[in-house]
Amino acid sequence: MFINRKFPTSRLRRLRANSTLIDLVSESSISSNDLIQPLFIKENLKGTEAINSMPDILRYSKESVIDEVEDLLDHNINTIALFPAIDSSKKDSDGTEALNKSNLICESIQKIKSKFPEMLVIADVALDPYTDHGHDGLLKNNYVDNDLTLDVLKSQSLILAESGADILAPSDMMDGRIGIIREALENADYKNTILLSYAAKYNSKFYGPFRDAVSSASNLGTSSKSSYQMSPTNKDEAIHEVAIDINEGADIVMVKPGMPYLDIISLIKNTFKVPTFAYQVSGEYSMLKLAINKGWLHSDVMLESLVSFKRAGADAILTYAAKEISREINIK
Ligand code: PBG
Repeated sequence: MFINRKFPTSRLRRLRANSTLIDLVSESSISSNDLIQPLFIKENLKGTEAINSMPDILRYSKESVIDEVEDLLDHNINTIALFPAIDSSKKDSDGTEALNKSNLICESIQKIKSKFPEMLVIADVALDPYTDHGHDGLLKNNYVDNDLTLDVLKSQSLILAESGADILAPSDMMDGRIGIIREALENADYKNTILLSYAAKYNSKFYGPFRDAVSSASNLGTSSKSSYQMSPTNKDEAIHEVAIDINEGADIVMVKPGMPYLDIISLIKNTFKVPTFAYQVSGEYSMLKLAINKGWLHSDVMLESLVSFKRAGADAILTYAAKEISREINIK
């Protein structure tokens, strides 16, 4: 490469003399188009409600979420990912409510898409908001049974597609689910429904605040998702996961969590050259936001953390800070 560059012929500070120069040579950038806002919708709620472990993030009622979607569009956020907090009385061991065509999430998707067809809606495919044990699949002898779960995920996917979801995002980490869902979508003539696979999803403690937000934490208790989510120690395995999901019909793959897994984002993007998203998960968001709100960290750390995703190779980022960052970068 460049090798004999010596001082003072070479002064790297020349290109840092002012912000115009810095911007001119910047290697990565972030725009509103790269940001996806996750939203929590809660049943039997009036208006909105704060989430204890997620500063400045709200749960919305079916009605109030409509105003929020409009506000997001006004902030140039054009893609949302919806998560339901369903009534505990509706949770059971089979996650039956997930297959109710007029459940909270299906009704919300229909409403949002009919008012704002231009908003892209991502719907999560997994059973954890619906099961009384808090797992993403069905239990058999206290073990999450892969193949039994596939059947349910397939039906869940079809009703979400029917409700108008543009993108289905299986976040459950069962083996074979992308293939089964893709085939079901083709057969039902949902040929353009996009599959965003949570392909490399790690068994992470950074999901803690999310589980509070959808109130699955108490259901899960001390049980762990280690028999289906990936071990944080592994990297080659991420390549296997992603390769399989692409072959089975995923249009976009995702790495999750984000900041502690930037090496994985970079590896996946460089290896496969396919659309690759990353999720700045609840715990990552909360630790930054809490420190910002306390005045311990400058508020720019949020943007800095998101730029690191772009630098690593992420095409888009799911982040709870999507709206505020979009506002910020459009003012700057
Ligand atoms: C569950 C799901 C989780 C998240 C998205 N979908 C949590 C989990 O796997 O327990 C986490 C998102 C976050 O922490 O922000 N299917």
